[in-house]
Amino acid sequence: MDSLVIRGGRKIKGEIDIQGSKNSALPILCSCILVKGIVVLHNVPNITDIHITIEILKSLGAIVKIENNNTIIIDSTNINSSVVPYSLAHKMRSSIIFLGSLLGRMGEVTIGYPGGCKLGARPIDLHLKSLISLGVNITEDEEGIKCVCNNLFGNKINLSFKSVGATQNIILAAVCAKGATIIKNAATEPEILDMIAMLNKCGSKIKVIGDTIIIDGVKKLNGTEYTVMSDRIVAGTYLATAAITNGEIYLKGVKTKQIYPITKIFEDMGMDIRTYDNFVFAKTNRLKAVNITTSPHPGFPTDMQAQMMPVLSLSKGISSIEETIFESRDKHISELNKMGANITIMENYKENKKTTFIINEINNFTGNVVYAKDLRGGAALVIAGLCAEGITIVEGYEYIKRGYQNIIKDLKSLGADISNNINISNVISEKSHILA
Ligand code: UD1
Repeated sequence: MDSLVIRGGRKIKGEIDIQGSKNSALPILCSCILVKGIVVLHNVPNITDIHITIEILKSLGAIVKIENNNTIIIDSTNINSSVVPYSLAHKMRSSIIFLGSLLGRMGEVTIGYPGGCKLGARPIDLHLKSLISLGVNITEDEEGIKCVCNNLFGNKINLSFKSVGATQNIILAAVCAKGATIIKNAATEPEILDMIAMLNKCGSKIKVIGDTIIIDGVKKLNGTEYTVMSDRIVAGTYLATAAITNGEIYLKGVKTKQIYPITKIFEDMGMDIRTYDNFVFAKTNRLKAVNITTSPHPGFPTDMQAQMMPVLSLSKGISSIEETIFESRDKHISELNKMGANITIMENYKENKKTTFIINEINNFTGNVVYAKDLRGGAALVIAGLCAEGITIVEGYEYIKRGYQNIIKDLKSLGADISNNINISNVISEKSHILA
């Protein structure tokens, strides 16, 4: 297992360019197969899930070139397959977005069930129901799904939940459908708006009015050049590292409006936050407890829930987080508690997918050997390790690499003492009291 080794106690201080957004770049890459031509994408993060998506694109017949790590050129002129290899689909959740784009391009798709972080049941019923209403026939077996359509026709779809993935799939299936599609109660996360901006640059006709998205089908899409938005969750994670180490940070390339649901909470906790057009400055004061509820945008993002827990643990008072998106996004809690946190799950609140976590104030974290079990939960353990007494070894670095392009280099440049397991033997003796 790949690990991170962190010596706690260093202040996070400095400025950092925020990488491109994973949750924006993945659906944008899926969109490219609707374009019978070349798309040049800048600011694509160099992370595992992007590598898997590129493998899928190549297996479908696209020619993909990577330039300077973060620019990707996709030529989808000769897409000739509608089968997403099951082994690749199983590796990540966002493979499901190939449903809409392949239906739009090929009129059919065969795909294995998506994988990804285990946060709960993560069903796809809303995706399938919506596609059926656009004219798709679907058959399922234990391994995966086969979808076929003669033509895609626009329709009115009222989502019972603002599902990010379902909204993306509907948009992609509807872009070149006959007639107009109206999605009511659509998810409007900044990453969805970014995908829409890219598609509109390619010639699609998509409008967003509040939480309604209107897609007027067009005959074809043209190639384009597009820069992916910055990753607001990575920005929020680094904000948390500054908050917990009593530091200060400039987050460069971050759009104020996109990150506001996160900065607002840090401000409520007492952090000094100044937002400018294209960057955020934050300085830590004594932080106080807050109550957070995760919800679809513009609510507090579920993807920042785990990273808040170590920060709230060191804030004055008792905090709570109500997780309303996923029923079991809690695997980081036992690991944080191994480092000295006092976080409990209110079992009687665990209903209708809602779980409430109580985060009691502690004096400090103590280094330990802990296990990342998903991407953001892993980031939470790194945050705790940065301020912990002694050394923390975070096993499962491979989960963290799914979303953070260069967490070691970034945090080192901000003053942290963090490395990967290359030097692990040097710290084993220092850590023997923990490992014993
Ligand atoms: C969700 C998050 C997204 C985050 C991503 C990875 C929200 C609204 N969505 O997107 O911000 O980046 O996880 O952590 O915050 N659901 C169904 N049926 C479906 C689809 C979804 O019941 O067909 C339910 C899920 O079980 C879950 C909720 O809706 O409880 C959110 O799902 P959805 O937004 O689709 O998930 P992701 O697209 O994975």
